[in-house]
Amino acid sequence: MSDRLLKLTLQVWRQKGPNEPGHFERYTCDTVSEHMSFLEMLDVVNEGLLVQGKDPIAFDHDCREGICGACGMVINGVAHGPRAATTTCQLHMRHFKDGDQIVIEPWRASAFPVWKDLVVDRSAFDRIIQAGGYVSVRTGSAPDANETAVPKTDAELALDAASCIGCGACVAACPNASASLFTAAKVAHLGLLPQGQAERQQRVLQMVAQMDAEGFGHCTNHNECEAVCPKQISVRFIARMNRDFLRALLTADEPSRLRRKPA
Ligand code: SF4
Ligand code: FES
Repeated sequence: MSDRLLKLTLQVWRQKGPNEPGHFERYTCDTVSEHMSFLEMLDVVNEGLLVQGKDPIAFDHDCREGICGACGMVINGVAHGPRAATTTCQLHMRHFKDGDQIVIEPWRASAFPVWKDLVVDRSAFDRIIQAGGYVSVRTGSAPDANETAVPKTDAELALDAASCIGCGACVAACPNASASLFTAAKVAHLGLLPQGQAERQQRVLQMVAQMDAEGFGHCTNHNECEAVCPKQISVRFIARMNRDFLRALLTADEPSRLRRKPA
């Protein structure tokens, strides 16, 4: 396979730590193969910086297969870059042209403080999950679980919701930095299943309360979240979460309503 080499100019956000001011730095690279992934391109730039004794660009990644959600960054103003339904690690350099200038920034949201360069602290998402993203019923082993019939449409919808990888692109793209799409996906994937019914009310109340406590904004239906979501989670899940939330608020017993208040 022949290699087309690209010469690129990068403008990369550099920031030493959460309380340090950040700035853009310019790098040029002329050894980028079109077959590289975006992260491999950054690896090449970092090797060059290391040879020069400079601090490499910090960026988050783990699986590099589009399944862990670690690798998010804003590329030319778009969370995860120009390809729909594609995580940054699955974005390939053949989608860029020789001579392109690429601006690379971290997620921008006060609930996701920058740790360093392109790495942000997404632990707010972990705390939303801890607030209610679990079931406490015993579901048994796989054969036992298979004995609980789930309507096909519910199972498929639950799987769609469960495909959320917690990357945070929805927050980064939203003008309100709302985490509604992420939270709605997590509320729905358990709330659609029989095993998730016992805690359904408590789950939505507590997860929405935690989302608010973390400082995420409210959803005002811009739908930017759905547009950038690499797993194409539908905003319909937000409507489902809002319905569940209202129903829970109106019908929950007093202890559940009280538990809604974040610690
Ligand atoms: S809803 Fe989509 S964009 Fe938001 S965290 Fe989940 S996978 Fe990422
Ligand atoms: S590194 Fe895991 S989704 Fe990109």
